[in-house]
Parts: sequence; structure tokens; C-alpha cells
Amino acid sequence: MEMAMSFVRFFVSLIIISNAGKEHIVSCNGGDLVLSDFYNETAISRIAFGSCSFPKKPQPLWEHISFQQPDLWVWLGDAVYADTKILPLVWTPSPLGEMVDKFNALKYSLAYQKFLRSGVQVLGVWDDHDYGSNDGGKHYKDRLQAQGIYLDFLDEPIESLRRKREGAYASYIYGHGNKKVKIILLDTRSHLRWGSDCDILGRDQWEWLEKQLSESNTAQLTIIGSGIQVLSDMPFTDKWTSCPSSYDRLMWLVQKNSRVIFISGDVHFGEFACLNNTSTGYPVYEITSSGLTGTCVTWITTDMCRWLLTNIGHSSKRLQPFITEMNYGLITIHWDTQPVSVTVEVRGEAGSYLKQTISLDQLEKTRNLNRCPQKIEEPPVVKKVTFYTGVFLLLSIVFIALLRLLAFIAKRVFKIVLCLLGITVKNAAGGSEYVNYKNKIIKRD
Ligand SMILES: *[C@@H]1O[C@H](CO)[C@@H](O)[C@H](O)[C@H]1NC(C)=O
Ligand SMILES: *[C@@H]1O[C@H](CO)[C@@H](O)[C@H](O)[C@H]1NC(C)=O
Ligand SMILES: *[C@@H]1O[C@H](CO)[C@@H](O)[C@H](O)[C@H]1NC(C)=O
Repeated sequence: MEMAMSFVRFFVSLIIISNAGKEHIVSCNGGDLVLSDFYNETAISRIAFGSCSFPKKPQPLWEHISFQQPDLWVWLGDAVYADTKILPLVWTPSPLGEMVDKFNALKYSLAYQKFLRSGVQVLGVWDDHDYGSNDGGKHYKDRLQAQGIYLDFLDEPIESLRRKREGAYASYIYGHGNKKVKIILLDTRSHLRWGSDCDILGRDQWEWLEKQLSESNTAQLTIIGSGIQVLSDMPFTDKWTSCPSSYDRLMWLVQKNSRVIFISGDVHFGEFACLNNTSTGYPVYEITSSGLTGTCVTWITTDMCRWLLTNIGHSSKRLQPFITEMNYGLITIHWDTQPVSVTVEVRGEAGSYLKQTISLDQLEKTRNLNRCPQKIEEPPVVKKVTFYTGVFLLLSIVFIALLRLLAFIAKRVFKIVLCLLGITVKNAAGGSEYVNYKNKIIKRD
């Protein structure tokens, strides 16, 4: 009986594995169920990722990334800026046809085509600009059509289950036995809602994620990709910590598994972060790589950008100084070391800028919470206070000046209108003036 059952199991897993790339439930390792949307038996050891690419700018990093021979490339948002800039920092959704053109400009660019020909497999999930709406969420009216455009860009097969559900989220398992990596890509746009009842993933995606991170996940390493940053608490950006209930729920789900790390994009610089105090019972790392074709230094001077990010854009979980060079992320899994370790990097034209090797046994659940490496120093509060006071004063002056200007213009316009209408205005002396349309004032008693 036992034998027969094993045979049945064996054949079922054969059938399922032969459908690799299509099926949701994969049985391997002698029967333990592993849930994922896609499965590929081939073990992988190098995963590159990145975000924020302007197709019209030079694309110098693709050849550097190819040189690293990654098994996978993961887009983490803003693959293109599919919306339209109307003023600095002001964007509006583009017509869908224009969106397609913008994606194609990247997809068929020489540099990216050459990169694709290296044989790398491409995965991805969007953030706001490739979703089509800057800082957009569930109320973006074209979100479902944009999903089709985005999945076309990724060359997702027409029968793919990613085309059948609302949202671009997906999960993948690569490898088998004790060389399994699970990659979970979260769609933080299609169902995003801010406000007091904020929510980042939406009901269906939460349910799905709960299954992805269930106790039956036996992957040695689980990588969760999110366009927006997860651990960061720097001001002015869209991030998970801006919606505490969703952030808390995410961490709650993460604690069911050991060895989970986050990767993210969006912010136009690169950094490592690590969360000490959490229910997970192990340090949670986040690697942010953003800026494939430019970073904040593209718009303001390097000094200004670094000063702002250090003193105002400080995040309490930042591990090392951030980097403002154009960059991509790279995760290398050393399957042959005992215990298995991963090297995480933020790299660019000059090689490796941020690098850390984490032994996977350090990411096992224990009751010892504070195991993140030493974080960088907090910036002095006085700089922050000076900055915000300065900004406040400046804005006040601009505001007052604008008000005065408006008042002045309003007065003029009012006068002219009165004049055109030929209306009488009482003057202070009590007498009245008749204003005629030729602007001549005729005194009356
Ligand atoms: C599985 O991964 C290998 C190596 O990365 C790749 O060559 C192959 O095309 C993948 N197969 C599927 C079905 O995704
Ligand atoms: C961790 O939590 C403890 C207890 O709440 C607190 O005293 C400690 O400062 C926290 N450590 C960090 C690094 O946040
Ligand atoms: C984690 O906690 C330890 C001990 O409290 C502390 O030295 C380290 O700086 C913390 N790291 C982070 C990233 O919070």
C-alpha cells in the first residue's frame, strides 16, 4: 500500500513538473506541497534586479549586468515612465497607445535587446510610473488595460495566469530539493488605497500571499520584491510603513517562514536596511536598488542630494551609507558553502558599491531579536529642524507673495470689469462716481 502510494505520488509529481512554467501547485521533495504560480526545476544562483529607467537616457548598465551572468533579471518598477510629465514633479496618465510606445522604446532599444539575447530570464512587477499613474493606486481608471501592456512588455505568454487576475503579482520557485529559491513579486499599485483605512495589497492578493508564505514553503531562500520600499521610514516617499496596518500584516505573514529577504526600488538611490525588532525572530534585510539610468544627482547637485538623503531622508533601519551612483542589485547564492550563504550587492559601472554576505543560518527563527548589523548613526536633529524651518519660512514668503500678487490682480480685473459694465462705484467721500466704458470718470453730486 505504502509502495503504491509513493508510486502514485512520484507519477503525479512527474506530470506536474513536466508542466513546469504553467502550474500552480508543485509537488517535490517526496510529497511536501509547495505553492507557487510558476515552477522551474533548474536551480539558480544569481538574481539581478533594478528599477527606474528612462528609455531616452543612455542605458550603460545592461552590459555590466550581462557580464555578471545572472540567471534572472527582476524589474522592480518604473521600467519605463509610461505616464507624461507636464511640469517638474507633475505627471499625468498617458493615453494607452502612447504607453505602448514608451514600453516599446525600451523593449526594442539596442542595449536592452542585446541584454535579452544573453539568455537571461526576465520577471517583473510594476511601480507607479510603469503602472501608468504617478503615485497611483486602485483608482487609476486604466489599470486593467495597463496590466496587459505591462505583461506584453515582459513577453508573458498569452495563456499566462498573470493575465487572468487583477494585479501584476506573481510567485516563482526555482530549483528542487535543498536548492529551492522562491520569488514573490507584490503588486503595490493595483489595489493600493491610502487614508485612514489604507491597504496596500487588496483582499485577493493578501489571501494569495498568505498561501505563498505558509508553513509549507520549504524554499531555502524566499525573496519578496516590492516596488515601494518596505522597511524605510524616510519621509516623502510611498512606502509600506506609511500604511502601518498593511506593514504589520506583511511582517506577520513573513514570520511564518525563516530566511525571507526583501528587494525594492523606487527611490533613485541604493541602500541596505535591516529590521531588528520584529515578530519574525530573525533579522529582516531589504536591498533597495533604484536608478538604472540616473539617480537624484541627475536633478540636483551630488552634494545637495547626499545632504538631503543623509539628514532629511534618513531611515532608521539604514545599515550603511546609501549610494547615489546609477545602480542595479545582485543576489548571489553560494549553494556549496556550509551553511549556505548569500551575497547581496548594489552594483554599478564601477563594480560593487554595497556588499554584504549573509549566512542563511543567521536567518533562522530564534528568540534572540536584535541581530541586525550595526546601523549607521542618526543625523543630528538640529539639521532636520533647520531644514524644515527654512522650508517653512521660504514657503511662507512665497505664499504671502502669491497672495499679494493675487489680490493685486483681482483688484485690477475687478476694476476693469466694473468699467466695462459701466457700473457706479460709491467712493469714500459718500459721493458717487460714474465710471463709463471709456474709462472716463464723470463726477456727480
Ligand atoms: C528554466 O530555467 C532555465 C535556466 O534559467 C531556463 O533556461 C529555462 O528556459 C526555464 N524554463 C522555463 C519553463 O521557464
Ligand atoms: C528593540 O525593542 C526593545 C524593547 O521594545 C527596545 O528596548 C530596543 O531599543 C529595540 N531595539 C531596536 C534596535 O530598535
Ligand atoms: C540592531 O540592534 C543592535 C543591538 O541593539 C544594534 O547594535 C544595531 O545597530 C541594530 N541594527 C539596526 C539596523 O537596527
